[in-house]
Amino acid sequence: MKTTVLPSEQQRRSLNRHTKFRIFTTISLLAIIFTYMFNTNTFISFNFNPAIFTNHKLIINYNQLIIQESHNSPLNLKFDILNSNPKFETRANEFLKDCKLRFFMTWISSPSILFGERELLVVEALFKSNPDSCLIIISNNMDSDHGFQLLKPVINLGFRVQAIEPDFHFLFKNTPAESWFGCIQNRKCDPGEIPLAQNLSNLIRLVALYKFGGVYLDTDFIPLNNFSGLRNSIGAQSANRFGNWTRLNNAVLVFDKNHPLLYKFIEEFALTFNGNRWGFNGPYLVSRVVKRNMEYNLSVLPPAAFYPVGWGRIGGLFRRPVDRGHRRWVEAKVVQLKESSYGVHLWNKQSRKLRIEEESILARLISHHCVVCKTFNKSQRLR
Ligand SMILES: *[C@@H]1O[C@H](CO)[C@@H](O)[C@H](O)[C@H]1NC(C)=O
Ligand SMILES: *[C@@H]1O[C@H](CO)[C@@H](O)[C@H](O)[C@H]1NC(C)=O
Ligand SMILES: *[C@@H]1O[C@H](CO)[C@@H](O)[C@H](O)[C@H]1NC(C)=O
Ligand SMILES: *[C@@H]1O[C@H](CO)[C@@H](O)[C@H](O)[C@H]1NC(C)=O
Ligand SMILES: *[C@@H]1O[C@H](CO)[C@@H](O)[C@H](O)[C@H]1NC(C)=O
Repeated sequence: MKTTVLPSEQQRRSLNRHTKFRIFTTISLLAIIFTYMFNTNTFISFNFNPAIFTNHKLIINYNQLIIQESHNSPLNLKFDILNSNPKFETRANEFLKDCKLRFFMTWISSPSILFGERELLVVEALFKSNPDSCLIIISNNMDSDHGFQLLKPVINLGFRVQAIEPDFHFLFKNTPAESWFGCIQNRKCDPGEIPLAQNLSNLIRLVALYKFGGVYLDTDFIPLNNFSGLRNSIGAQSANRFGNWTRLNNAVLVFDKNHPLLYKFIEEFALTFNGNRWGFNGPYLVSRVVKRNMEYNLSVLPPAAFYPVGWGRIGGLFRRPVDRGHRRWVEAKVVQLKESSYGVHLWNKQSRKLRIEEESILARLISHHCVVCKTFNKSQRLR
């Protein structure tokens, strides 16, 4: 009895061939969860729906709860982050030259806010589960001596990670973002009240994948499994009781270079940019665009793939077990997450302030998925 979204070898092959695939799940664990739910208040909801996700011929429910993206920095950096590094393209191509599996993250933040322990744990987990991959951190401030020192313990183990300051001219060139960018730069378009840095992150992930192809990950997504079987995939963060997705999320994106759907995403961003509307160009954007463009090759993975724990329940991952029954349950969950999910999105906005308690699900996942394994100090509160 097991719930799984990770494809077997055979499934993996057919996943590449077909635009649709089915995921069969069993739900006996739900029984355990429900039993547990009635015995304790610390109930965590996992979205292990017995869902059949056919390739996005699905229904979207616009009345879903609003979900907020993870944010790097509360500061409004406005225009000073729009500097362009002309070496970006050359450095990125050089770095990616011998890489089969490429990952991208973005870190656009005020100069003093570099990766914290949590972000470093994410990098470690990435290389633990995908040791042969390369990771580019597109960042205005991690591409510095201090940033390099932070990444050095991982680099010293032979893993390939590099922070590179973006060149917006290159990234936006020949995309619909080009004119949007010009407009913002000339101060003709209103970037709105919402920090431009956060909106840029939503856009940079799209253009980076469009130019290079690969996997984009949010810095609050803990990878637990091998990503190399995935192609042109996006994750649903919620599904209805019929198993059809109701909202997609852009915290994890897997796309081939020049994928036409990426172009559509970028176009939508540029056309509908609204710096004052919360979430509008983040997670909502991908749902909107996918719904309108059913003809493209895309696998919509069920919530268990990337968002196994909803944002409202994410706190449960951080808490220590309270008794023996809870402890057994935690152990089962750790195994289940590892078997059923590509990783776990931590919904930083909700979980940033939580301490990772000893023996919690998260503490276990992290200690199994570290490579340097020094940063995780159980008695310390992780930022
Ligand atoms: C769910 O998706 C299936 C497959 O695309 C579709 O046939 C069905 O009408 C949808 N049902 C509901 C209730 O969303
Ligand atoms: C990940 O999967 C790919 C292809 O399925 C395989 O070649 C590679 O060895 C796997 N990596 C790990 C670390 O298991
Ligand atoms: C700007 O970023 C914030 C935070 O990610 C987001 O809530 C908002 O919707 C974004 N605005 C646009 C226009 O993308
Ligand atoms: C979808 O993928 C298949 C095989 O990978 C390809 O033959 C087909 O042209 C693609 N369709 C679109 C619309 O890109
Ligand atoms: C963990 O952090 C605490 C508080 O910062 C510190 O006192 C302790 O020595 C650290 N332990 C280890 C093993 O690094």
